[in-house]
Amino acid sequence: MELLNDLASLRAWVAARDLARERIGFVPTMGALHAGHLSLVRQARLRCDRVVASIFVNPTQFGPHEDFANYPRTLEADRAMLAGEGCDALFLPDAGMIYPDGFGTRVVVGPLGEDLCGRSRPGHFDGVALVVTILFHLVRPAVAFFGLKDYQQFVVIRRMARDLAMPVEVVGLPTVREADGLAMSSRNRYLEPGERQRAGSLYRALLAAKERYRAGERDPAVLEGEALRVLREGGIEGVEYVAVREAESLAPMERVSGEPVMLLAARVGRARLIDNMVLSLA
Ligand code: PAJ
Repeated sequence: MELLNDLASLRAWVAARDLARERIGFVPTMGALHAGHLSLVRQARLRCDRVVASIFVNPTQFGPHEDFANYPRTLEADRAMLAGEGCDALFLPDAGMIYPDGFGTRVVVGPLGEDLCGRSRPGHFDGVALVVTILFHLVRPAVAFFGLKDYQQFVVIRRMARDLAMPVEVVGLPTVREADGLAMSSRNRYLEPGERQRAGSLYRALLAAKERYRAGERDPAVLEGEALRVLREGGIEGVEYVAVREAESLAPMERVSGEPVMLLAARVGRARLIDNMVLSLA
């Protein structure tokens, strides 16, 4: 796997792909990699000629009281995992390469980024959109791969790519889970053993809501109430939101129809965990 530590080596790598008419698949990450990230690399390998991943803990998407300074950094293990998955190149920028001196431009996502996670993390999705825009311009991928685990992030980036006519296909891939259903996340490392056990009820709450949906329930408040009940029973007290939304627009619905997705966020110990499920999928 080629290590691309500076802009010159990244540009040379991208130019060589261009010359060879190879389609680049791109997997942007913040590191602390796990099987969820690797599933994106695997799909990228299947769908593209060359795969580049990036690891960059992006300061502009963290709030002032969030975990930017403590975000897990496990570069050696990450490199080994990516190489083992057959990733062709790893782009490892530092903050000065992404945000050079005098940087001042902003990307504003609009309403899609203000609801749900955007309520407790103001500006978060603007920061994500900013760094993804810069990374797209540097890497020039044909296809970029994102996890549906961060469902709102996926919807925001797909919308941005369409709105701004970015010449990239944005693909969303299914959430990879632990044996008890907990969505894999770099932040799961923050969980103490008891918290880790309770965290499994996020998935059980989504399953319970889906069960009710399948049985014919179409009142979003009832579906949300069912998920909340399971969370409470599972000892999850720091629920931030539980919401049923239309899958593409994230709009609330009076009666559930079309493709509904349930999204939730909760604090468990030091970790803020999110998960979601499309209720209408098998
Ligand atoms: P990060 O949290 O490292 O996630 C990188 C990618 O991996 C995202 O697309 C995320 O949705 C996906 N992912 C995380 N956990 C997953 C799981 N359990 N199953 C499947 N995919 C999973 O998301 C970010 O980084 C950043 O916001 C980024 C897009 C890199 C911009 O800084």
